[in-house]
Amino acid sequence: MGKPPQLKRAIQMAHSLIRERVQPGDSVIDATAGNGHDSLFLAQTVGGNGLVSCFDIQEAAIRNTRERTNGMQQVALHHTGHENIPEIIHSPVKAATFNLGYLPAGDKQITTGGETTVAALNSVIALLEAGGIITVVLYPGHPEGEREAKQVEAWATELDQSIFTVILYQTINQRNSPPYLIAVERRSNFD
Ligand SMILES: C[S@@+](CC[C@H](N)C(=O)[O-])C[C@H]1O[C@@H](n2cnc3c(N)ncnc32)[C@H](O)[C@@H]1O
Repeated sequence: MGKPPQLKRAIQMAHSLIRERVQPGDSVIDATAGNGHDSLFLAQTVGGNGLVSCFDIQEAAIRNTRERTNGMQQVALHHTGHENIPEIIHSPVKAATFNLGYLPAGDKQITTGGETTVAALNSVIALLEAGGIITVVLYPGHPEGEREAKQVEAWATELDQSIFTVILYQTINQRNSPPYLIAVERRSNFD
């Protein structure tokens, strides 16, 4: 007998939304490379003819992502903050992932911050193709994460509804402020 179905966690839902939209050969961004799990998922999804541009401010994160993606030609690593995306990415992208907070098993003092995250999100929506998606996994369980989550929610709420559709995916009965997801889709020209 197979396992009974279980509601997806925030990160699983983010991957599912990306898998539905991203095709082999697409260009995408991993705005927070960390230990490279999302980068590897994106690299497998876009394939050898695609491009995954990965960003992180920590040397350890870039190293871990390089090791996890093990020389995949579609992976480009950028050891710089995602707020610098406009200086590096000049072509449209089909998706971007932001998995916020701190590096698991790393320095918990080094976390993403609301101002730089929102700056990066603004630069990515300008690059997002029609039908493309941005996923943001938020971690309100620590003080900076809670502040950042509020800033991202405020930003997302204000996006023009004629261009973007924004969803919130969140448990509402769990203790300890579990992670949740905001996803922004640039509406396709066909609806
Ligand atoms: C939760 S981890 C990401 C997990 C990762 N996506 C994975 O699959 O393992 C968050 C990462 O954001 C990074 N970070 C913090 N500020 C950043 C910034 N301004 N630009 C890019 N990355 C940043 C941290 O160094 C940390 O590695």
